[in-house]
Amino acid sequence: MQPRQRRHATQPRQPRHAISPALNRVNALPATATLPAVAADPATATLPAVAADPATATLPAVAADPATAMLPAVATDPATARLAAVATLLVVLVTLTAWHPATARRVRVTDHRETTGGNGVDALIPRERREVAPGAVHLPDWLRPDTQRSLVADCRRWSRPGVNGEPGMRSTRLPGGGLMSVRTVCLGWHWYPYGYSRTVDRGDGSGPPVLAFPDRLAELGRRAVADAYGDPAAGARYSPDIALINYYDADARMGLHRDGDERSDEPVVSLSLGDDCLFRFGNTDNRGRPWTDLELCSGDLFVFGGASRWAFHGVPRIRPGTADPSIGLARGRLNITLRVSGLPVSAS
Ligand code: SIN
Ligand code: MN
Repeated sequence: MQPRQRRHATQPRQPRHAISPALNRVNALPATATLPAVAADPATATLPAVAADPATATLPAVAADPATAMLPAVATDPATARLAAVATLLVVLVTLTAWHPATARRVRVTDHRETTGGNGVDALIPRERREVAPGAVHLPDWLRPDTQRSLVADCRRWSRPGVNGEPGMRSTRLPGGGLMSVRTVCLGWHWYPYGYSRTVDRGDGSGPPVLAFPDRLAELGRRAVADAYGDPAAGARYSPDIALINYYDADARMGLHRDGDERSDEPVVSLSLGDDCLFRFGNTDNRGRPWTDLELCSGDLFVFGGASRWAFHGVPRIRPGTADPSIGLARGRLNITLRVSGLPVSAS
């Protein structure tokens, strides 16, 4: 089914902010505040299972490949009937394996980007670049598998608690008391509802500094903007200084919200890793329709700027078990969003 076409976005709205240097934080007025979804029950927003060594892995490590684990050992009995039965069973299992989501994803990722085609069903239906709304562009399979793997490794490193008391990846507590179902770690600037600070303490001035924004992500952001808009000059100008790394387990979601705590009109760059998700891209006026639903898969790039910079968007659903475990994430979805804060360096 074709997703609905949304009507054109209205003029982008520039949020207003108040700065509180004493607290080393920058506040957005509630009118422009981001309103992420709250887990229905904070008890369900628990941390994802930790790998064998909790000190070395916060994100889930790779499980045994379910595709290969499904294949039984081949019997060696020479009896013809037995061989026929085994052969039949193998055919059935191989067919089932080919349709297993993780296998299908692997075929698609490998064949679609790096070879001239393959046998996977998905490879027959390449997902095309699409401008969802003016300035909002979806580029499927933008990240190569090896880049996805190294980004997952980076995310795992950023997610660990640090020696200076950095809490690592965690669910954000909302002003109303609810806990977000998504878990987050920030780079460059720490996002809290609803503003940014240079410390990870929600702005009381006593916490450890936020992790540094790495050059690698700035470079990736520049390439993303250049490719999304076919405009190398726009790419070269792009200078993100915020990254939010979000982890979604099978039950996590993010309600429709606007990335409204920045002071810059520069685009938001979004990179997806791991499980597929349903991504909803709405209008700039409110959380209602019109919106466009699209599937974001591992390696996909989504950029929204220009007339779509202040559009509402969210993640209503994750599709558990669709990730290719070879990128190093056993389950769940990671999203990296890059943003330009437009905040004064002196606030740091
Ligand atoms: C976000 O809007 O901050 C995250 C979106 C996503 O996970 O794709
Ligand atoms: Mn957002």
